[in-house]
This record gives sequence, structure tokens and C-alpha cells, in this order.
Amino acid sequence: MRKEYERPVITKLQSGLMNKFGGSPAYSRKVKESIAGVSIDDLVSRHGSPLFVFSERAIRRRCHHVHSAYSTRYPNVTFAWSYKTNYLDAVCAIMHQEGALAEVVSSMEYDKARRLGVPGDQIIFNGPYKPMDALERAVSEGAQINIDHLDELQDLEVLATRLERKISVGLRLNLDAGIHPQWSRFGFNLESGQAADAAKRLVNGGKLTINALHCHIGTFILEPSAYARQVEKMVDFAYELQDSFGMSIERIDVGGGLPSCSRLKGTMFAPELSVPSVDQFAEELCDALSRRLRPGDCPELILESGRAMIDEAGWLITTVEASKRLPEGIRAYILDAGVNTLFTSFWYKFNVEIDREVNGVNETSVLYGPLCMNIDVLDDGIPLPPLSRGTRLIFSPVGAYNVTQWMQFIHYRPCVVLIGQNGEVDVIRDGEDLTDLTRRERLPERLALNAFSSSSHDTQGSEPVSSADE
Ligand SMILES: Cc1ncc(COP(=O)(O)O)c(C=O)c1O
Repeated sequence: MRKEYERPVITKLQSGLMNKFGGSPAYSRKVKESIAGVSIDDLVSRHGSPLFVFSERAIRRRCHHVHSAYSTRYPNVTFAWSYKTNYLDAVCAIMHQEGALAEVVSSMEYDKARRLGVPGDQIIFNGPYKPMDALERAVSEGAQINIDHLDELQDLEVLATRLERKISVGLRLNLDAGIHPQWSRFGFNLESGQAADAAKRLVNGGKLTINALHCHIGTFILEPSAYARQVEKMVDFAYELQDSFGMSIERIDVGGGLPSCSRLKGTMFAPELSVPSVDQFAEELCDALSRRLRPGDCPELILESGRAMIDEAGWLITTVEASKRLPEGIRAYILDAGVNTLFTSFWYKFNVEIDREVNGVNETSVLYGPLCMNIDVLDDGIPLPPLSRGTRLIFSPVGAYNVTQWMQFIHYRPCVVLIGQNGEVDVIRDGEDLTDLTRRERLPERLALNAFSSSSHDTQGSEPVSSADE
């Protein structure tokens, strides 16, 4: 059989890295022909490219896995779905079916949860800015409001006076759990005594009571013991409030922060090596919690995990639209999706798979998006074989923080589909078109261009009509 021609390439050997003399990655190929049993070809021919694809089975499997890691170690665990991670209705509905409360950080997210049918008392309302009308609604609907600062505390006191009743609230804390940089901008600082002062202030006001403590130490936490330190400090503070003011803290909310299996830019090791397992996180936290609680106490432990629940359940299918050789000699590909669509590319190095077998030697290549912007780079150095136009590249994991932070910028946002447990494919967000872009725009009548097009661009040779002639 005749061997297919392979274009020769010269690849610089890099000392210290594996090369063709030692198990080079140059010949590795990652082929992905289907997602959750549905062929990439089918998905794209029906829904276009780029295309976000979610797997319902993967979401539910992950929910069960993470939930059971904690609930097998502590008897009173509740998850709250962090809406900002992914607030597509279909995704939120799955999370709520799996038993999660809604964790929201704005009026918009609150509205979205309520519209979906989540009752107010199943909502946790966090965030540094809660307008008065949103607070009033949340109070009247029984949501758990976690106070971020003294001004909000004051707003809630005004509401309590107006409604002539005491309001139960949570206090958001920030603390040193050994994570650097420490997230100190949200809530009241514990170590400086700010949180204790806020509690005193709240008690003296006589309008509010504290039923929950909240703290989110950061995101993509790679150190399980940080959660042990966090929960110990939270429990100690809860007992301080109980002993000093007779308050009973029913909820200890440790926020989110569990990592997904993404690869952070600049990390040396692959996620399989650098990301601890969910069980390691659960073990540290639940162990510390059980040790620290007084006998018989069992407050509700709330987790607001975002990225760890959904990231690996999402893929982005893109298409190679063109290739070029840069003056430095580097191969570059232009894809139909860029940082506008895949916002997390600013800090993740994605797993990139090809939809077909491709012959040829791998070359370190750059992946550009379609924007006419220099920052639009999805990968600045990835070994790829020579790709022809039309080849699909599949990026993962992309389920977290993309379909919320994506931008309507230069291009329409693409379609999102969900592959159900039986392989059915449902569109859960239509691809955008011009109406999405212009729906809220208003063009003052004096700026309408129809007069312009029938006068100055008149191709019939007639004189432009000036308003004076009319
Ligand atoms: C208050 C709060 N809870 C939960 C989350 C979800 O975090 P993650 O996706 O790291 O789990 C965030 C994210 O920033 C947050 O601010």
C-alpha cells in the first residue's frame, strides 16, 4: 500500500523536555468523535459550530459523587447551586432536581431562580450589593440573606422596623484559612474582631438575629486542609455567638471553591496529579467539623460548589476556519470561537481533541479565535498535526463560568445543547441572531438612514432631495 505523503516539518528540540528520542508527545493524538454517545458530526450538522454541549448524565453523576462524598461523612449536608457558575435554566433545573438550593448573588440571579420555580426559602442570597427592593423581596419570601457589610445590616434593620418583625440573617465572614491571597473583600473579617463587632452591633440593634455563618475562602482551592481550618474557625465563632448572645447557628455555609479537573495556566502538573480528590476535601472538612462541634450538635453544612459540579460536563465544539504560518515560523489556526465564547481561556489551558484521525507530525501551534483583537488566543502553544479547514476541535472542560461570562462581542453567541440521559439532544439556548443584538436599541428618528440611502447614494442620477425642496 502506498504511504500517504507527509509534509516535512522541522521541530526545534528543547532540552529538558521529552523529544523524538524519548517518548515525544509529537505523535500523540487525541481523537474525539462523539460526546455522550452523539457524534460530533451530527451535533454540528444540526446545530452549527461553535456549539456548547452539556451532558445531563455527567452533571447528575458528578452531583451524586460530590454529594455522597460529604453526606457519607456528615449527616446534615445541603448543596446550593452557585448560579453564577452556569445559570442556564436547564442546568439549574437539573441541580434543583438533584436537591440543591439556589445560591444567588444579584437581583438578576434571584429573579432567574424564582422564575424557574424555586421558592424563596430555598434561596441563599449572597453578594456585596443587594439593592433595597431585592432585600425586601428576599425577606418577604424567606430567603437566607448573608450580610456582607454594615450598610447592608443597616438596610435590613430598616426593613425589620418597617415590617415590624425580627429578621434572621447570616453573617458572611472572611478569614485566614492559609490560602493566599486571602479573600478579604467580602463579609466581615474574623481575626481582626470585625465580625464580632458586627454581631455585637446587630444584637444591640435588636432587630435582627443570626441563624447562619457563611464564608467562601476562594476558588480553585487545591489544599483540602484549608477547609478544615475554615470550618474550625467558623464553628468556634458560632459558639462564641451562642455563648455570648444565646444565638443558635443553624447553618454553617462553607461556600464553594472545590477545583475542577481543568488545568490552570502556569501549573506544571496535569490536573490528575495536582487536583486532590473530592473525597480528600470532604474528609478534611467533615473530620474537622465533627471534631469541633459539641456533642449532640449537628448544624446544617452548606456547600456552594460551582465549577467542581459542572465544568467536566461541558464541551465546546469549534471549527478550524483557516491556517497560516506566522513570521516566526509558527503554525497558527483560526477558529470560529475565541475568548468571546470561551471566557475561561484567560486562565485555563484546555484539553483539545480532534474529531478525526489526522496524518502528519505534530507541530506546536497557536489557536486564535475569530475576533479582530490581539488578545483572542485560545492556546498559545499546543502540539497539533496539520489540520485542514473544517476540522473540528473539541475543548474541555468548559461547563463552568463560560455560558455566563461569555461576551456578545463582534460575533453572535452560539447555541447550547444538552444531551439527555437517553441520548436525546435538546437545544437549551438558541444561537443568537441580529434581533438579540438590536432588540433593546433605539435609533432616534433624525438619525434614520433611509433618507441618506435614497439621496446621497442615489444611483439613478437624480438630484438628492434636500429638506428645503420639500
Ligand atoms: C459566594 C460564592 N459561593 C460559591 C461560589 C462558587 O465557587 P466555585 O465555582 O469556586 O465553587 C462563588 C464563586 O465565586 C461565590 O462567590
